[in-house]
Amino acid sequence: MKTLAVISRKGGAGKTTLSVNLAITAHLSGLRTMLADIDPQRSASDALRARAGDGPVLAEINAGKLFSTQVQAKSADFDVIVIDTPASPEAEALQAINCADLCVLVCRPTFLDIASVVRSAEAVRRLGKKGLIVLNQAPPRRNGAEPPAVLKAVEALRFSGMPLAGVGLRARNVFQQSIAHGRSVCEWEPKSPAAEEISRLWTLLAPMLLGQEDIRVRAG
Ligand SMILES: Nc1ncnc2c1ncn2[C@@H]1O[C@H](COP(=O)(O)OP(=O)(O)OP(=O)(O)O)[C@@H](O)[C@H]1O
Ligand SMILES: [Mg+2]
Repeated sequence: MKTLAVISRKGGAGKTTLSVNLAITAHLSGLRTMLADIDPQRSASDALRARAGDGPVLAEINAGKLFSTQVQAKSADFDVIVIDTPASPEAEALQAINCADLCVLVCRPTFLDIASVVRSAEAVRRLGKKGLIVLNQAPPRRNGAEPPAVLKAVEALRFSGMPLAGVGLRARNVFQQSIAHGRSVCEWEPKSPAAEEISRLWTLLAPMLLGQEDIRVRAG
């Protein structure tokens, strides 16, 4: 069983949006998936409660329960836990990082987000964990050209010492619409660019999290 922690010390960066979309994508790929919501705001729980039908199993817990939840999930034969974390306090994010096999650091292409993610990247490194930065809410391309804010962010993040995912998420309404129904963008608008972004991101993250061998076994 593997654990993915979604981290950003900046509020509103997109932790919950990413956690919910990735947990549902993992579930739909046939993995027994738990979404652990350790944010007292309970946004991920609100999203999953709005969902009709089957989906990831929800664990509404505080950070102090992460370790015992992992033990229980392992013995219940779960494959993946996705942890949605709060922006603060720092101790809670550190607990999630400690429990994680892979940390996804969510970052909007803004100066303050980047400064914050650099600090989180340091924490992930200090704790000896694998991590990856994912740009979220990037403005769309204009006439095929990448907006300056995105180019600047990519340049600045090169100095974070943590790899930047080759696939990011643009600011798109479908992320807001789908989560209100507890659905991933891939379920809500399967042919949308947002769905393609999430599918490509999961294709990138799954081998980092699970290892190729696990994926082959699950794929049968
Ligand atoms: N790629 C996106 N495109 C459009 N809207 C987005 C995108 N990602 C997130 N949002 C919106 O931005 C807001 C904040 O997102 P979200 O709640 O996922 O952030 P968060 O990091 O979990 O926030 P918090 O720190 O409060 O937990 C929400 O209204 C969400 O719908
Ligand atoms: Mg959140």
